Amino acid sequence: MHLLIGVNILKRAERLINDPLYAENMELNVRSEVEPKSYQHDFRHHLDVARITYILILENNDLNYFVKESGLSSKLAAKEVIYAAGLLHDIGKWKEYTEGIDHALYGSRLAREILPRAFYNPREVDIICRAVYEHSNISRDMSFLGEKLHRADNLSRVYPEKEYFKELSGIKNKEINISSFEY
Ligand SMILES: [Fe+2]
Repeated sequence: MHLLIGVNILKRAERLINDPLYAENMELNVRSEVEPKSYQHDFRHHLDVARITYILILENNDLNYFVKESGLSSKLAAKEVIYAAGLLHDIGKWKEYTEGIDHALYGSRLAREILPRAFYNPREVDIICRAVYEHSNISRDMSFLGEKLHRADNLSRVYPEKEYFKELSGIKNKEINISSFEY
């Protein structure tokens, strides 16, 4: 699978999604999915969250801050880190469905195994794994990326109660109010 995002081919993110362990767990997610089907944790959801996380950071003019604060080498490296966090954040969801194990914790462990094979360096691996671990619960001492990922995950679930979204009605987003669109 190719991952062409904007003008950049995200080579490491592409390597990540082609990793056999990534593919295996995404497959398990889809197979263990529970109702409602529109609340899936499939590749589409992961890509949505990756894109929204990146947009949130760009909109706030925070990309340079993130590069510096995290000690990353470039804006492209930061983009690959952001995308990796989005693409991995719910990878362990099936484990929660089937065994009751916290998906953020399990997902961060899987991420730690997969990321070095995609040539993410140890600092980047720590940043991504921390964000994956933090994403499902808001807390006071969240990392920058963990907070953005959490917010993007919520925003990815916006389903307005319009006629043409009728089949999706009943699914509520934690942030579904007008302020969601003013962030
Ligand atoms: Fe999610």
